[in-house]
Amino acid sequence: MRRRGEFGCAVAACVLALCLPTPAGAFPISGDQTVLPAGSELNEDALLVPREVFKSEVQGGAKSYLVKLGDMAFSDPGILGDVARRAGVSCATCHMNGASNPKLYIPGGSSKPGTFDTTGALFNPKADNHVLDPVRIPSLRGARYLAPYGHDGRVASLRDFVRNVIVREFAGPEPSPEVLDAIVTYIQDIDFLPNPKLGPGGRLSAQASDAERRGEALFARPFPHDPSLSCAGCHPPSAGFLDHQVHDIGSGGLFRTPTLRNANFNAPYFHDGRYDTYVEALDHFDRVFGLGLAIDERHDLIAYLNAVGDGLRPYERDNSVARLREIDEFASVLTDAIPGHDRDVVALAVDTVGGELRELIERIPDIKDTAVTEGRDERRLARSALKDVVLSLRRIDLAAGSGNFDDAAAAYENVRKLMAAAIPAVLAKAEPWSLFNPAVHDVHFAALRQLLKLTDNLQAKAATKLP
Ligand code: HEC
Ligand code: HEC
Repeated sequence: MRRRGEFGCAVAACVLALCLPTPAGAFPISGDQTVLPAGSELNEDALLVPREVFKSEVQGGAKSYLVKLGDMAFSDPGILGDVARRAGVSCATCHMNGASNPKLYIPGGSSKPGTFDTTGALFNPKADNHVLDPVRIPSLRGARYLAPYGHDGRVASLRDFVRNVIVREFAGPEPSPEVLDAIVTYIQDIDFLPNPKLGPGGRLSAQASDAERRGEALFARPFPHDPSLSCAGCHPPSAGFLDHQVHDIGSGGLFRTPTLRNANFNAPYFHDGRYDTYVEALDHFDRVFGLGLAIDERHDLIAYLNAVGDGLRPYERDNSVARLREIDEFASVLTDAIPGHDRDVVALAVDTVGGELRELIERIPDIKDTAVTEGRDERRLARSALKDVVLSLRRIDLAAGSGNFDDAAAAYENVRKLMAAAIPAVLAKAEPWSLFNPAVHDVHFAALRQLLKLTDNLQAKAATKLP
């Protein structure tokens, strides 16, 4: 899912022990000691996360091995190279559960939350075009329908796009063909959220309101000053609300027509995320194309956009059950990889699952955490049980690394046993005192923010004293 890097770990460890870093700075908290600039927000502590829907499951089947492998690699910072690994940034940090991350903000890399400059120096100095030109982090829902890729539609193939992200934008190591295929297969399996308001051919279904229906008609109406254009001309409802073309619509160049399906959850809008609402986006078209929309016409068009852009249960709660489900699924690639003697995949799985487990451990405050007072035994038990799984996991990698796949299989069996029996029970008991509980979450992060402010002040003071 999302990965907390050494930045988060160090700060959290510090808060838990209620220590104050010395101005000399033993902790990589801010300034140039960290990988990510001070003030970075990865939205890792969100309690509501985008819901992910898979084509294979919607069709009644199960996810294939490749989809699971791809999903796992998508969550592994290691595939993106050294800087991303240290920052704890994976594909899933920006594309949370395959959607977007409207809160992600990295000073110097983002112009506003939800945007990022993929041609900046942070992850790969060689990719730097020396212009701050952040673009909106897109949702990957329905990506298999959205070619050509990129906000400017510059890449026809999803595989080429993904390889480019890993190798060029992030300076990650060349992915194996298997892992690359897996990531592409995973992305192609991410579906749009179902939307009961849309019927066949992208027409509104019977449950639409009158305003939405009037909006549907306006959407198809030719523009007054150029009857060759209409909203539906570029966003054809029968074809997923996009025409696979780039157009100059007065937003600063040629940009690909985005889909409007599930777009209610895709703000900020336009390639650079300049607009936060449909109202602003519609104002843009009204102004640039001289549409002269009356107030009630705007209202109807917005109602229509909201109907088209909707999706069932767009968010779900983050909790230990959801985390365990994901960890089990990632770990399940070992069922094939160990007997297949696939050392690379074993190493990748152990790395990713280990990271997810450590992240889960951090969700359960250590007993030294003075902000949380109850559930000490429950927390202690859950943390130590999870640490046992991490240790067993390491044994898998050690054994596989030395070619001993029988030992690896035995260690994996042990991990599966722990995950099936002991772990769910101890986690359920610790859950009320974990960061998945909104009350505990708020207390914990308030303390963390307070500490960050303090250390920033200390460091600022220390800096002024330097010769
Ligand atoms: C730091 C944030 C960040 C990370 C990490 C990241 N992306 Fe993206 N992703 C973006 C942004 C921003 C864009 C838009 C780039 C553009 O339009 O040129 C994008 C675009 C894409 C697209 C194109 C979608 C479309 O409809 O055109 C795909 C596919 C994609 N990313 C996959 C990945 C994969 C796979 C990884 C990991 C290997 C990854 N991303 C990691 C921010 C990120
Ligand atoms: C000539 C083709 C064209 C026409 C006509 C057109 N659009 Fe678009 N639309 C685009 C493009 C291209 C973008 C992306 C612009 C950018 O990225 O800067 C866009 C973006 C949008 C967005 C933002 C979606 C997102 O995820 O960023 C909305 C909403 C939208 N259009 C609705 C409409 C409506 C409503 C109309 C009619 C009033 C309309 N469009 C007419 C091509 C068109």
